[in-house]
Amino acid sequence: MSPVSLAKDQPLQSLDEVEDFFKERYPDPSAPPPARKPVVGYAPDKQENEFRNYEADARPTVREFYRLNHQFQTRDFVLAKKKEFLGLNRLQMGVWEAAEYLNQLVDDSDPDTDMSQLEHLLQTAEQIRRDGQPRWMILTGFVHDLGKILCLWGEPQWAVVGDTFATGCAYDPRIVFPRFFEANPDFKNPAYQTKLGIYQEGCGLDAVDISWGHDEYIYQVCKNYLPEEGLAMLRYHSFYPWHREGAYDYLCNARDRELLPWVKRFNPYDLYTKSHTKPDVKALKPFYDELIREYFPEKIRW
Ligand SMILES: [Fe+2]
Ligand SMILES: [Fe+2]
Repeated sequence: MSPVSLAKDQPLQSLDEVEDFFKERYPDPSAPPPARKPVVGYAPDKQENEFRNYEADARPTVREFYRLNHQFQTRDFVLAKKKEFLGLNRLQMGVWEAAEYLNQLVDDSDPDTDMSQLEHLLQTAEQIRRDGQPRWMILTGFVHDLGKILCLWGEPQWAVVGDTFATGCAYDPRIVFPRFFEANPDFKNPAYQTKLGIYQEGCGLDAVDISWGHDEYIYQVCKNYLPEEGLAMLRYHSFYPWHREGAYDYLCNARDRELLPWVKRFNPYDLYTKSHTKPDVKALKPFYDELIREYFPEKIRW
């Protein structure tokens, strides 16, 4: 398979730029706190990071990515993309095959130090395995970003990655770069700008049109095959306003609240396991072939 460049007329040179931004914005709570430095002009008992403005510090490419994302992810856009992709009528392929297919996606970062898509999936899954988590969760780690194949089908970056948010109701102020929503047509639709918008209190996240991207797509592809906890990890792993910031509780039902700890359990494996020791793809393949066979048929619909 020939490599497909990510960056044609797109702001990000690498999808990792968004992941790096997540890590800045949502630092590892289990990591030691950064060294204390005196902050000139502020009270000496404040730490530097308390004054950190992640949005001001973000790379221009990341800022531009979010500007496009927040402007164009309207509720109508989300509904149109669901219609376009969720019939799963594009092709049939196996899970390992899909991982190799996704691996065609190359970016302009340094191939010696940065992980390929397949390596990120294996690294996430392998850390889950090392920690003795259930087998279905290892497999969930392996498939979690396969929805990024949307990029290979010409979808713009802002419609594939980035943290997700609810459409059809008011934008939560904890979403990154909230100012950019002012350019979204939904911002001027009063029906979408109340706290509940078009939804009922406690309706459940399944009824909510969350901004479109690789999460919803891979959830739908895997819906018949993985346990509900794994499916929640797939569907909401980029829904940071919910799982990291505590937003949207009023849209959740009791089941969403039961599944939230599983989504939180998954997040560190996705975000903080990146090391520069590359997984040995060839050596790991037999284990994953068997694990995939345990849960999935030979070919599934994409
Ligand atoms: Fe992801
Ligand atoms: Fe990921």
